[in-house]
Formats: sequence, C-alpha cells, structure tokens
Amino acid sequence: MTDIFLDTASASEAREFLSWGIGDGVTTNQKIFLSEGNVDFKGRVLEICSLKARNWPVSVETTSHGYEALLQEAREYASWHRNVVVKVAMYGDGTGLKVVRTLSQERIKTNMTCMVTFDQLLMAAKAGATYVSLFFNRARDAGLDPVRAIREIVAELESGGYKSKLIVGSIRRPLDVEEAAAAGAHIITITPKVLREMALHQKTEDTIKEFDDAWKEFLEQKEKRTEEKAVASALAPAAPAAATGAESSGAPGASTGTGQGAPGS
Ligand code: E4P
Repeated sequence: MTDIFLDTASASEAREFLSWGIGDGVTTNQKIFLSEGNVDFKGRVLEICSLKARNWPVSVETTSHGYEALLQEAREYASWHRNVVVKVAMYGDGTGLKVVRTLSQERIKTNMTCMVTFDQLLMAAKAGATYVSLFFNRARDAGLDPVRAIREIVAELESGGYKSKLIVGSIRRPLDVEEAAAAGAHIITITPKVLREMALHQKTEDTIKEFDDAWKEFLEQKEKRTEEKAVASALAPAAPAAATGAESSGAPGASTGTGQGAPGS
C-alpha cells in the first residue's frame, strides 16, 4: 500500500485532508513555510504534530550549515514533539550523511532530502535515514528518470533489509502520483493543490450531474402520478353502499368504511 503524506505547513489543510481520510504524515520545507506567510514556526509545527497522536510523522527541515550546527538544530526540533522527523539535506560533501548517521545512533528519526539519484538514496539508507526522499520532478528537470530510480531503490531497500522507507516528493500533477505508485513508492508526499486535482475529474462531475438530473425527473414524475391519482379518485363516483354488502349483512360499523375493502385501501 502506498502511504500519502501531506506536503504542506498548513494545519487547516492537514485537518481538512484528514477529514477526507487522507494523510499518513506531513512533510514541510523552507519554501512551504514561506508560502504560509508570517506564522510562528514552532507553534505551527506543534499544531500540525498534535493533529494525530500516533503514526503521524511530521518532517521539519534543518536550515543550518555544518555538522555541529545541523546536529544542534536537529536535536532541538526532535525535542519539540515525538512526531517530529528531522529533514537533513544530502549535501555533496557528506555533511548531511554524517548528521543522519549520528542522529540515527541517537534514535532520532530522519528524512534525508533533496535527492534526485539512486546513488544518493542508497547512501542515505546506508547512513540510517528513517526516510529517504526522492524529488520526482526535480529529477526529471535534471534529465534523470525518477520512475527507474524508484523501482531500483525500492527493490534495494526491500531485498537489503534496510529500515528506510522511500518518500517521493516534488509531485506536480496527478499523473506523477500514478507513476510513482506504480513504480512501488512506499510513500508519496502531495500538495493540497494536487490532492484536490486527484479527486476531481470532469467526466465524474458530468456523471454526477446526469444522475442528479435523472433523480429530479424521477421525483417530478412520481409527484405528477400522485397528483393524477388524487384527481382521478376525487372525480370517481362514490361506490353504491349495497356493493359493499355491509348494509345487507347488517354488520356493526360496516358503513364507516373502516373494514376491509375500504375505498382507497
Ligand atoms: C518534500 O519533502 C519536498 O520538500 C517537496 O515535495 C519538494 O517539492 P518541490 O520540488 O515542489 O519544491
């Protein structure tokens, strides 16, 4: 089963998608926070973390540079809430890998991020990252084949007994989700915009409209038939009393119309 993470720093969006039954975790980054405007960073992280008690990893990205500074920042975020997963970028000089290795030894959950190749993902898994993140469309922008990378890294992670799970991010359209899921991604992180596009298809909208119209017509026809029946019974001549046989039998209460064969029954 492919898990879906919410690629957002909006607590209200996360709440909304959880109410749809969508959301196995959250991923954020600096650009995502920038799009939220002037929010209290720690306050927002804690608000998102507390939306679900369990099975709710919330990735928070480090912004420092250098091994010591990154470690300090990562430990700080991890101390905020048990749901926090610390995002560390795959720096080309290996600093991120060193940080992930140390955090893994300290049992702090990590998400190694900004990766576009199989090799980077493999190294992150070897360093002990809880999650390894492939940036699907950024890989494509660089002329790489993210679908192949997903297939290869998932096979490696699963056959090699790694604890790391693959997150596929940088999703720009519903078709990317289909491709990533078909290639075997463990998790796909998706923006609210793309999630809304995934739920919507014009053919489905047209079908719902067609069914609504049919139901309206059904109810109108039913109402018309009921009216016609009421008019017909109002115009019908009253049945002669003798026809009921009640008077001839002399049964008590027979003329009240409450017995069997009463008009309209
Ligand atoms: C997820 O972890 C990433 O931060 C995100 O999906 C990156 O997407 P982008 O390529 O749109 O910045």
